[in-house]
Amino acid sequence: MARKKASDVAVPSGPQANHVAIIMDGNGRWATNRGWPRLVGHRRGAERVREIVQACPSLGVRWLTIYAFSTENWKRSTEEVIGLMSLFGRYIEKEADKLSAQGVRLRFIGGRARLEPRLQDLMAAIEVRTAPNTLLNLTVAINYGGRDELARAAVRMAGDVAAGRLALEDAGEAALAARLDTADMPDPDLVIRTSGEMRTSNFLPWQAAYAEYEFTPTLWPDFTRDNLAAILDRFAGRERRFGGAKA
Ligand code: FPP
Repeated sequence: MARKKASDVAVPSGPQANHVAIIMDGNGRWATNRGWPRLVGHRRGAERVREIVQACPSLGVRWLTIYAFSTENWKRSTEEVIGLMSLFGRYIEKEADKLSAQGVRLRFIGGRARLEPRLQDLMAAIEVRTAPNTLLNLTVAINYGGRDELARAAVRMAGDVAAGRLALEDAGEAALAARLDTADMPDPDLVIRTSGEMRTSNFLPWQAAYAEYEFTPTLWPDFTRDNLAAILDRFAGRERRFGGAKA
């Protein structure tokens, strides 16, 4: 199947969110409310990921970044952690063909060293395989924490200064941003958190410094394309000033 590209998709006119980042919260409650194990909620959550990924290009979203597992999520039960890790592996294996055909470029952010070697291999392989795709940039944050990312970037920058690759006077914002996991990505325009929680939970603290936020009570397994479209409509009505004065 031919890879899709941006010019194949009709996009509505008006101000758009080029990069949407989502904190997919509420899988556990969705399952518990039904008397089901939490992992059932995560599986249903993965189905929502599929639907939202498919919807993004026609809604004008070219970058989608989703928070799948935080550096703090290791505190969950062993059963849940193992279940989530195997869900990620299965998602990558099962979706590889479809994502490629849809024109989706898949990348990962977060520390990889703590992940199973097999999962690391799957992640690296799909990043290479989907690298030519341009319709949608899907970034999955796994073992991601903003503070961890910033600390790793700071260590890299210090190492470069110590090794003489970077002058101390050049060790500023741009140099740090270039050493983040998101180095070649645009900043998110809009961060959405589902499930009614009003927290940012260590998600893209540097990159989302000027993002707009939307908090919706909908639990992630219930979040549909229409929910996303309604949020994007509201976003189009917002005035973004990036610290400047009202026009
Ligand atoms: C937060 O809900 C959700 C997670 C920690 C996992 C997110 C993972 C998925 C949506 C699975 C699929 C992802 C991919 C990339 C295939 P929670 O468990 O904290 O919910 P709760 O607050 O109701 O307990």
